[in-house]
Amino acid sequence: MITQTVHPAIELEEKYGAHNYHPIPVVLERGEGIYVWDTEGRKYFDFLSAYSAVNQGHCHPEILHALVEQAKKLTLTSRAFHNNILGEYEKYICEYFNYDKVLVMNTGVEGGETAVKLARKWGYEVKGIPKDMAKIIFVENNFWGRTLAAVSSSTDENCYTNFGPFMPGFEIIPYNDIEALNNALSDPNVAGVMMEPIQGEAGVIIPDSGYLKAVSEICASKNVLFIADEVQTGIGRTGKILACDHENVKPDILILGKALGGGVMPISAVLCRDEIMLTIKPGQHGSTFGGNPLACAVSKAALEVVKNERLAENSHNMGAIFRSRLASIDSPIIESYRGKGLFNALVIRPYGDGKTAVNICHDLMDNGLLAKQTHDHIIRFAPPLTINETQIHEASDIIEKTIMAAS
Ligand SMILES: Cc1ncc(COP(=O)(O)O)c(C=O)c1O
Repeated sequence: MITQTVHPAIELEEKYGAHNYHPIPVVLERGEGIYVWDTEGRKYFDFLSAYSAVNQGHCHPEILHALVEQAKKLTLTSRAFHNNILGEYEKYICEYFNYDKVLVMNTGVEGGETAVKLARKWGYEVKGIPKDMAKIIFVENNFWGRTLAAVSSSTDENCYTNFGPFMPGFEIIPYNDIEALNNALSDPNVAGVMMEPIQGEAGVIIPDSGYLKAVSEICASKNVLFIADEVQTGIGRTGKILACDHENVKPDILILGKALGGGVMPISAVLCRDEIMLTIKPGQHGSTFGGNPLACAVSKAALEVVKNERLAENSHNMGAIFRSRLASIDSPIIESYRGKGLFNALVIRPYGDGKTAVNICHDLMDNGLLAKQTHDHIIRFAPPLTINETQIHEASDIIEKTIMAAS
């Protein structure tokens, strides 16, 4: 009888760590570019990119250089004092995305929290919403993290069950539904509408063409802020620097995270115009690590890499090749596929004895490619944006072989 031994690193996590994730059973110890290696030296294509936080590829030399050089000088001052990096970074990111001002935090969900706080403050102090009446509109199947505010706006039972009571002042409407938005915005107390331009955790759900443009226009006509959560879709992932760029839409508030730190340091950013940002005064919002010089130096390098290596363009081109390869797989277990740039999803029909996307992910791992299912039946494919044509074909060969063997 063959007994399967559990990796000691996995045993330790099981014994001492909270059971708040269910990882694919691989233990990684090294990464470079689009590849990662496990503790036995096996090499894998990384087709998750840490949920799009490693768009620039693992351990990018220029990003690491910025990390090491800044780490030798100064890592943290808190915002009690100035440092010589923050202002320079703020100028750089504001010019990069064409906004007046930025507020720097650490994680994506803090970016979302910051955006909601800004929208409420603007709602009271600029729009004139009566005290404590401000409403923020979210869409079904959104995902913006795990804080109490984020789960208060979630429609995923797994995310919110037994975490109540929930944040008031939130309303959830269907995604990709202009009529629902129009109805919601008939309430004069709405301060903001927050959504992902393409829903990531929901399974790479792309709205109808023209939807984002319409959302932005309706928000403008009702004096409501359009808040785009580009934490996962931003920084080149969908084939443009921002997913909103596909429809030439400029959000009133833009939230970035993940790849903003090049997969090296956690950093998130909220960008908007002065009228909104200046409603927050000293002492009203912040974070000890937010805007630390180490993360800012790393993030500047991470954004430079995206521009210098034309990663958004590469994402567009490689994504088109990848989808043409998915289209050519003739298998009854594929229900559909979709995507933009290198942000793609494959929908799997249950097969065998109740097998589904997780089984395919395990088979892909055995064949040298790491991907993760979302919602049982969907596999997201999101490699680092540095992938080249030969590599995208090699990875597609693995996916095709794996699907055909399971069919
Ligand atoms: C669209 C979106 N917003 C926000 C977040 C939260 O980011 P973080 O996990 O860094 O808090 C995520 C995480 O997956 C996300 O996909």
